[in-house]
Amino acid sequence: MNTNRLSPQMQEALIKQMTKEAHASQIFLSYGCWADVKGYGGIANFLYRHSQEERNHMIKFMRYILDRGGEARVEAIPAPPENPFNLTDAFNKVFEHEVDNTTAIYEIVNLSFEEKDWATWNFMQWFVKEQIEEEKLALELIDKLKIAGGDSASDESLFTLDKALESAPDDVSLPQEATAENPS
Ligand code: FEO
Repeated sequence: MNTNRLSPQMQEALIKQMTKEAHASQIFLSYGCWADVKGYGGIANFLYRHSQEERNHMIKFMRYILDRGGEARVEAIPAPPENPFNLTDAFNKVFEHEVDNTTAIYEIVNLSFEEKDWATWNFMQWFVKEQIEEEKLALELIDKLKIAGGDSASDESLFTLDKALESAPDDVSLPQEATAENPS
């Protein structure tokens, strides 16, 4: 009897996504080290925490594959890309990685829709929502740096930004939660 509730194609797509989340974790860990070396301890802390979130995402995919009777497989993770060349580049790249991950998430949603695999479709909705948050978080990084003065920001405003990111929350509110009283 086949007890695997995932199609072979879906199982492979979910394993690929496990690896992608692990890769994202390594990328943010590597960017965190880069920021640490540059003296931006707060930004590094933010990136380390984000790296941990990505690892949690990997575990969620692993857990889901196993809970559906599938076989989770841990694969080799590609090396992180080159270090960013400045903070603008770093934050732009964080945003690009998030958008790239959203695209991968949508591909699995599309596949679940095609297969009428509603369990996977339902599971993936958590990630659809999570990506709205993560893209927003990355956009806020870009905005905060722009306000601080971008590449020509003063040492003082970079110091303030660095401090702010050290204690910045990992979660942001979703548009679904906005009300007329509290639109932000
Ligand atoms: Fe796991 Fe940033 O998406």
